[in-house]
This record gives sequence, structure tokens and C-alpha cells, in this order.
Amino acid sequence: CQLDKWAKEAGLKYFGTAVDNPSLSNQAYMKIARDSSEFGSITPANGQKWSNTEGSQGRFSYGSGDAITSVAKQSGQLLRCHTLVWHNQLPVSSSFSRDQMQRIITAHIQNVAGHYKGQCYAWNVVNEVLENDGTFRQSPMYRAMGIKFITHSFKTAAQTDPLAKLYLNDFNIERCCNAKINATISLLKTVIAAGAPVHGVGMQGHSRVGKSPSKREMKEAMAQFAELVDEVAFTEVDIRHTKLPVTAEDREQQARDYVEVVGACLETAKCVGVTVWDFTDQYSWIPSQYPGEGEACLFDNNLGKEAGVYRRGQPPPEC
Ligand code: G3I
Repeated sequence: CQLDKWAKEAGLKYFGTAVDNPSLSNQAYMKIARDSSEFGSITPANGQKWSNTEGSQGRFSYGSGDAITSVAKQSGQLLRCHTLVWHNQLPVSSSFSRDQMQRIITAHIQNVAGHYKGQCYAWNVVNEVLENDGTFRQSPMYRAMGIKFITHSFKTAAQTDPLAKLYLNDFNIERCCNAKINATISLLKTVIAAGAPVHGVGMQGHSRVGKSPSKREMKEAMAQFAELVDEVAFTEVDIRHTKLPVTAEDREQQARDYVEVVGACLETAKCVGVTVWDFTDQYSWIPSQYPGEGEACLFDNNLGKEAGVYRRGQPPPEC
């Protein structure tokens, strides 16, 4: 059985993966990435980010983004577009006035969401706007505009691409309950009350083997979001081992952890899908960010299905 086919049979809209530009030349990888029974949705891992689409202010380029989106189009896969406004990979300085920043954000969203208009099932409009303690991240956008940068981003995205589902996306909001989840709820209430169309909450879902949230904890978090938005999704799932090399028990635990995530989504009516933050360890961001940790993905370094978590008893046998 293949993942997207199984996910659809089980009631989800898609099972997806991130794809980054360097992997486009790897034929063995692309054979799997393009297989729409395996992955019904693609998220560009970097191609649509600010630094790739507006490398210097007012100069827009879509080569990296289009290279990924065209794969999804040719393969009949949904696109989860990522991301319009994020503090990272952001070549703008922090010293703009409120009005200047508003114009910069407007131009960026109108150009980028305009370029991809009609192609994105969903856009992660704002990404990682809160700190773990629930305070606002002091990004250049927040410093210039306060919370209005979020409201403004959603409104501009809606005007530019009215059919896309507009998401707020963040990490550490998967496990009920914590300060960041409470802050996310109050942020959602504030921006929705201000007329911003927020359709979805994306829970990134980066976690560690044996420490990742339980199905119950994730369902409780989603239940809170579901009171405020139309849909929720896991948008960047990977579950890394913190000790390498891994044992057989570690792998079994990792498989169980993945199953908890998918199970939480399946048992939440408004959860539309699960996206993994690349499907193979070969292109995982983990080793460069967390030296000594890794093997976080469903497929191993050699794209070995037999060796990957995916084939170790998952997905469920009825598929
Ligand atoms: O493109 C340049 C290349 O020209 C240069 O030679 C090379 C040298 O380091 O860097 C390349 O850029 C890298 C880029 O990925 C493209 O591969 C950046 O250094 C690297 O920092 C960047 O990392 C990405 C990271 O976001 C940026 O913060 C990861 O691939 C990407 O997986 C990661 O994704 C994020 C999500 O967007 C948001 N949530 C967290 C997640 C993991 O950090």
C-alpha cells in the first residue's frame, strides 16, 4: 500500500511531503516524490520562501519555487505552499517604519501569492510568529507593525488568492496544553475578530523519538484549534532519533510515534492531512541543525523502503 492512497481511503485529503530543490536531480528520489499514490501533496521546502522569491527588495524570482510546483502540477498532486511571511530566510532589515513594512509585506504577498494564484491548495501565510513561552517573536515584521502584520498578511493573501486555504503555521503547538498553544488560540481570536480570514492551523510536528506527543495530547490541541478554524493539518512531520546509531527498539518506538501522529489526524474531523518534512533521511534538515541526531524520516538514506519506518509494519495492514 502507498501512503496517499491509504490516507485517502482512511478519510484524509492527502498524505504529503516536502521536496527541496537539490533533490530534483535525483531520479530515484523523484520517482517516489512524483508518485501521487505515495504523496498526494507537495510542499516546497525552501523554493517559495522570501529569500528565494524576493532575494532583494522588489526583485522577484520564481525559478526555485516553480521547479517544485511544476512537479506537483505534472504529477497531479496538491500543493501546500510555504511560506509567505517568516522571520527566517528574510533578506529585509529590521529598521523599517510601520508603513514601510506594510508596503513591503503587501508587495511580497501580492507578487508571490499572485504568481502562484490558483495553484495552492493551502498557503502557510505566517510561519512561527510565537515563541515557546507564548510571547510574540521579535521579528522585523513584529517590531515594525506589532500583531497587525499578521492580520494584514492574511487579508492581503485572501485578496490575492481567494481560493487558497490560509494557514497559521508553527512548531510546538502539537501537544496540549502549553503556553504557546494558549497564545496561538488568543492570537487566532484576535486576528479573526479583526477580520482576517484564517482557515487553518498547521502544526509542524517536528519531534523526538520517545518524546513526541501522544495521540490524546495532539487530539486535545487540535480540538482547541478546530473551534476557531475550518481545518488543521500536520505540516512538517519528522521524528528524529537523539542517539545514533539506533537500535531495533528505537526504530519500533519511532514507528509507533509516527502512527500516533497519523492516528491523531485520522481521529480529528477537521484534520485534512499529514505532510512529512521530506521522506528520506538523505535530504533531512536534522543532521545539519542537530549534529549527532537524525534518521528522522520514513525512508532511510538509500530510499530503502524495507529499511524505512514506512515498511516496518506501517501503514496499517488493511490498506
Ligand atoms: O541555497 C543555499 C546554497 O546556495 C548554499 O550553497 C548553501 C550553503 O549552506 O545554503 C543553501 O541554503 C540553505 C537552504 O536550506 C537551501 O538548501 C540554507 O543554508 C539552509 O539554512 C536552509 O535550511 C532550511 C531551513 O528551513 C532554513 O531555516 C531547510 O532546508 C528547511 O528544511 C528548513 O525548513 C523549516 C521550515 O521552513 C519551517 N519550519 C522549520 C523547518 C526546519 O528548520
